[in-house]
Amino acid sequence: MKTSVLLQVSNISKCYSCGEGYTTALESVSIAVHSGDFLMVTGPSGSGKSTFLNILSGLDSSSEGDVVFMGESLGAMGVGKIARLRNDAFGFIFQTPHLLPDRTVLENVALPFQYGARVSQEKITLRCQQLLEYVGLNEMGTRFPNTLSGGEMQRVVVARALARKPKLIFADEPTGSLDSENSQKIVKLLQEQAEAGCAIVMATHDTSLLDAGSRRLKLQKNRAAA
Ligand SMILES: Nc1ncnc2c1ncn2[C@@H]1O[C@H](COP(=O)(O)OP(=O)(O)OP(=O)(O)O)[C@@H](O)[C@H]1O
Ligand SMILES: [Mg+2]
Repeated sequence: MKTSVLLQVSNISKCYSCGEGYTTALESVSIAVHSGDFLMVTGPSGSGKSTFLNILSGLDSSSEGDVVFMGESLGAMGVGKIARLRNDAFGFIFQTPHLLPDRTVLENVALPFQYGARVSQEKITLRCQQLLEYVGLNEMGTRFPNTLSGGEMQRVVVARALARKPKLIFADEPTGSLDSENSQKIVKLLQEQAEAGCAIVMATHDTSLLDAGSRRLKLQKNRAAA
C-alpha cells in the first residue's frame, strides 16, 4: 500500500502556567504520521500523552512548533476550519464512552453527519447500520446507551468515529475502562482500520497492547519548573 504523510509534527512544546511557575507538558516532539500507521503513544502518567493527542487533533494549540495536516498548518487555520476538519477527517475515541443518553445507538453513530457536507438520511442510516454490524452490534441500533455494557458502548464510539471515513483516528486510552477481552476487540478494530489506510494515534498505559501498533512514541515525564 502506498502511504502518504498525513501529519507532520515539528518541535512541538506545551507549557502551562501553574501558580507562579509553569509546567512543561511536552518538550520539542517531532514525528511524521503516515496513512496506515498505528502509532502507540506511551509514557508514564503526566508525560503529556493527552496533551500530545489534543494538539495533533487541533483541540489544543502548542506553545511552540507546528502541526501540519496534509500540507496545511493547524496553527494557521481558523476555529471554523479546524472544527470542520475534526468532524470530516478525524475520528475520536476517549477512555470513557461519551454517548448521548437520549439518542438511540444508531442515532449516536450518526452524530457526525449533523455537521459538514449534507448526506441523505437514507445513506446515513445505511452507513450506520453497516458500521454497527462491523463492530458486532448489529441488533442494537434501536437501544439506548444505558442498556449497553461498557465494552459495547465503546464499540458504538468506534462506529461513530468511523462514520465519516476519517483519515486519522485519535484514541486516548480507549481501553482504559475495559477488561482485556473488550480491549482486544477495540484494538483489533483499530488495527483493521490502519490496514485499510487510516492512521491511528493511540495513547495507552497498557503494555500488553503495544505490539498491536506499527510504531511507538515514548514520552518522558517532565520537569516542572518554578
Ligand atoms: N490545563 C492544564 N493546566 C496545567 N497543567 C496541565 C493542564 N493539562 C495538563 N497539565 C499538565 O501537563 C502534564 C501532562 O498532562 P497529560 O494529561 O498530557 O498527561 P498524560 O500522559 O496524558 O497522563 P495520564 O496518563 O495520566 O492520562 C501533567 O503534568 C499535567 O498536570
Ligand atoms: Mg492522558
